[in-house]
Amino acid sequence: MPLSFTHLVSIEQLSRKDADAIIGEAEHMENVLKDGGDERLHGKILANLFYEPSTRTHLSFAAAMCRLGGRVISTESVQFSSLYKGETIEDTIKVVGEYADIICMRHAEEGSAARGASVSPVPFINAGDGPGQHPTQALLDLMTIKKERGHIDGARVAMVGDLKHGRTVHSLSLLLSLYDNIHLLFISPKELRMPENIRSLLSKRSIRFEERQNLRDGLDGDILYMTRIQKERFKDEREYQRLREAYILTARDLKDSAVTVMHPLPRVGEIALDVDLLPNAAYFRQVKNGVAVRMALLAMMLDNA
Ligand code: NCD
Repeated sequence: MPLSFTHLVSIEQLSRKDADAIIGEAEHMENVLKDGGDERLHGKILANLFYEPSTRTHLSFAAAMCRLGGRVISTESVQFSSLYKGETIEDTIKVVGEYADIICMRHAEEGSAARGASVSPVPFINAGDGPGQHPTQALLDLMTIKKERGHIDGARVAMVGDLKHGRTVHSLSLLLSLYDNIHLLFISPKELRMPENIRSLLSKRSIRFEERQNLRDGLDGDILYMTRIQKERFKDEREYQRLREAYILTARDLKDSAVTVMHPLPRVGEIALDVDLLPNAAYFRQVKNGVAVRMALLAMMLDNA
């Protein structure tokens, strides 16, 4: 099925049909990966523009392109690019669109992806725009939930931590809202609540959500999605220091809980190392799904172009 979009900027663009088609294709890509990949994107070039730190998203997009026989050109950090000299995002994307068949960009400014996509001559993927959205992470999170539970409908998902600045939880809650009978629990200090624009979109879609402050409230559901307190987004360092240890999940907390623990990573202390040994810990399985989902997106978006 062809996708309903050319550029992937925000989860709001996706229909359930799009999401199901991408996950279906990603499941197929898992088999392709078992054979080491194939050559369907031979001759195609991905430009990876990462103007904010990244390990997983950057490398998994590159790995996905290589596994499908394509090539990757990339730039890291603003300092080594023309943005440093004052070039606009729009000009950069117009130029890079002449070199590559598809562009993937991460940038610290919310809204930067929409600006890039609006002028891009080739398919454009948002790999994280500041505290805005991170749609490809949400898709791999969705695939993880499906694999861990068997299905998505009816999932009770608690999201914990910095829900204000965490772009992954913004995208994931909107993506889950396309499914039936979803119950969301947002657990955060009151300073780091899920933003109003996301809450009102969920209400418009009649999605049940509750807001809490205690980590224990998330232990009875299906998924406990932990997040990092996003140090780089705080204006006041003291506020960060006060909130950084708001939630620390340990193996002891999970003693009587079958909840599946997810995390987009990197973690910086909010999941103790002893949790890694439990069957509940799905965050390294989650990472693996990133390559398959990004292979599916690259193949489908280039097919659409
Ligand atoms: C996340 C991000 O960049 O938003 N990381 C990722 O892409 N896996 C989460 C984070 O940085 O906390």
